[in-house]
Amino acid sequence: MRKKIIAGNWKMNMLPNEAISFINEFTPLVNNTQNEVVLCVPYTDLFYTLLNVQGTNIKVGAQNMHWESTGAYTGEISGEMLKCINVDYVIIGHSERRQYFAETDETVNKKLKKALSVGLKPIVCVGETLQEKEDGKAIDIITAQIKKALDGLNEEEVKNTIIAYEPIWAIGTGKTATAEDANESIITIRKEIEKNYGKNVAECVIILYGGSVKSTNAKELFTTSDIDGGLVGGASLKPEEFAKIVNFDKE
Ligand code: PGA
Repeated sequence: MRKKIIAGNWKMNMLPNEAISFINEFTPLVNNTQNEVVLCVPYTDLFYTLLNVQGTNIKVGAQNMHWESTGAYTGEISGEMLKCINVDYVIIGHSERRQYFAETDETVNKKLKKALSVGLKPIVCVGETLQEKEDGKAIDIITAQIKKALDGLNEEEVKNTIIAYEPIWAIGTGKTATAEDANESIITIRKEIEKNYGKNVAECVIILYGGSVKSTNAKELFTTSDIDGGLVGGASLKPEEFAKIVNFDKE
C-alpha cells in the first residue's frame, strides 16, 4: 500500500514571519493524520520552517536545486546544501521552471540523479500544455517526459522517486482535471514505468496529482486507484484550507 503524500508548493510566496504564523496555525490541524505532510517553501523560509516544524509530523522541501555539488554557479543551491540543513524533499522540473527558467528533460534528469544520490526525496513534475492536450498529444508528451527524467536510474532509485502529474492547463487556473482523467494519466505513467522497470517497481512509485487541488476536490482525486496524493499550490498558502486537503480522508 502506497503512502499518501500531500505536499504544498508555496512558490514565491511567504515571508519568514508569514511562514511562522502559517506553521503555528497549521500544525495542530494536521497532527493526527497518517498522510505525509510536506511544505515546499522558498529558500529564504527553509531555516525558519525547519526550526518551527521540529517535533511535528511536517516535512520540509525546497522547490529547486542544482545538479552540481559546488562551483561557479552564482545564485544556485546544491542538493548537499539542502540535505545538510535537514531538508527532506525537493521539487524538480516544475512546469514554471521549465517554462520560465529553461529547464529541460536533460536538466531534470541530472537534478533527479543528484537529489537521489544525496538522499533527498525528489518530486519530479511532468504534464502537458493545453495545446498538447487539444492536439491529442498529452500521453506522448508525459510518457516522453517520464522516460527522459528516469533515464539511467536503477530500480531502487526509481522506487525512491515521487512523480507529480501536473497538467499545465490546470495549474493556478481553477481548472482541475477530472478525477477520472487525472487517474487515467497517472495509470499511463505507471504503465510507462512498468515497461522499463517491471510491475513491482511501478506499483511502489508514489504519483501525485497537481493543478488547482482544493478542499472541495481533494477527496475525489485522492481516493482514485492510482493518485497517491497531491502537489498543491495556491490552496497550500491558507492553513485551514490546506489542512482540509491533508485531512481529505477524515471527512
Ligand atoms: P495550483 O499549483 O495548485 O495553484 O494549481 C500547483 C502547482 O503548481 O504545483
